[in-house]
Amino acid sequence: MKITVIGAGNMGGALVKGWTKAGIAADLTASAHTQKTLDRLAEACPGITVTLDNKKAIEGADGVVLAVKPWLVEQVIAEIMPELKDKLLVSVAAGIRHDRIDVYAMPNIAAEFGESMTFIEEAKHAEKAAMLFERVGQCKVVPQRLMDAGMMMAGCGIAYVMRFIRAMMEGGVEMGFYPDEAKQIAMQTIQGAVTLLRQTGLHPEAAIDKVTTPGGITIKGLNELEHAAFNSAVIRCLKAGLK
Ligand SMILES: NC(=O)c1ccc[n+]([C@@H]2O[C@H](COP(=O)([O-])OP(=O)(O)OC[C@H]3O[C@@H](n4cnc5c(N)ncnc54)[C@H](OP(=O)(O)O)[C@@H]3O)[C@@H](O)[C@H]2O)c1
Repeated sequence: MKITVIGAGNMGGALVKGWTKAGIAADLTASAHTQKTLDRLAEACPGITVTLDNKKAIEGADGVVLAVKPWLVEQVIAEIMPELKDKLLVSVAAGIRHDRIDVYAMPNIAAEFGESMTFIEEAKHAEKAAMLFERVGQCKVVPQRLMDAGMMMAGCGIAYVMRFIRAMMEGGVEMGFYPDEAKQIAMQTIQGAVTLLRQTGLHPEAAIDKVTTPGGITIKGLNELEHAAFNSAVIRCLKAGLK
């Protein structure tokens, strides 16, 4: 399947890099607004085709992924319409709907490393699009009513996890680690927690029980999080972007 990504910036570029790593560079074309962006991408992704011309970019493509800023979607669709014909048009632009878009997808930038959590809205060609996004991570096809929730948990969620990592680092530095050490410790601890949940299938609270001695130090820290309304803050954070 030949794919064109229009708007190879943070998100579009991450998809192109992820798909390149998945071995489909020869079937990829990317466009952007400036040559500088394309030069950088072409260097990182040997074998892809790049062009500043959106209409030329979609020639011969089976699928087109729109990854421009939301306010440019309408203009870019109008521009490529003559060449679009029956090509599958997938949009990753947050919150923008258009009659011509076949599939709405919400990936995140970990797509670059094959670790996106992508949401795809139920539609006629959703499964076809899902097969593509499964090459850069995990993918869930969901009803429209869950797309915004998916965006908050995964698209934006990656930023919230970064904040948690930063908070752990700040605590670590205050206790005597250098920032780089604190970052390594935070990342490996989070990776360990994720692997543990993946491998065991445990509910997080059951995993917490395994490391929490009654009257011990872990529960002291956990209860501090409760006093600071950590759960509530995370829930409110995730719901903040819902309309
Ligand atoms: N960033 C995320 O984590 C994320 C996650 C999910 C969805 N999204 C969605 O992805 C879209 C892009 O966001 P972003 O953060 O990747 O923005 P971005 O980094 O600014 O990327 C947008 C890209 O579009 C290019 N562009 C601008 N005008 C264009 C045109 N007329 N034709 C072709 N390309 C054009 C820009 O080219 P130049 O670089 O040359 O200026 C840039 O590379 C948004 O709609 C957003 O909602 C983003």
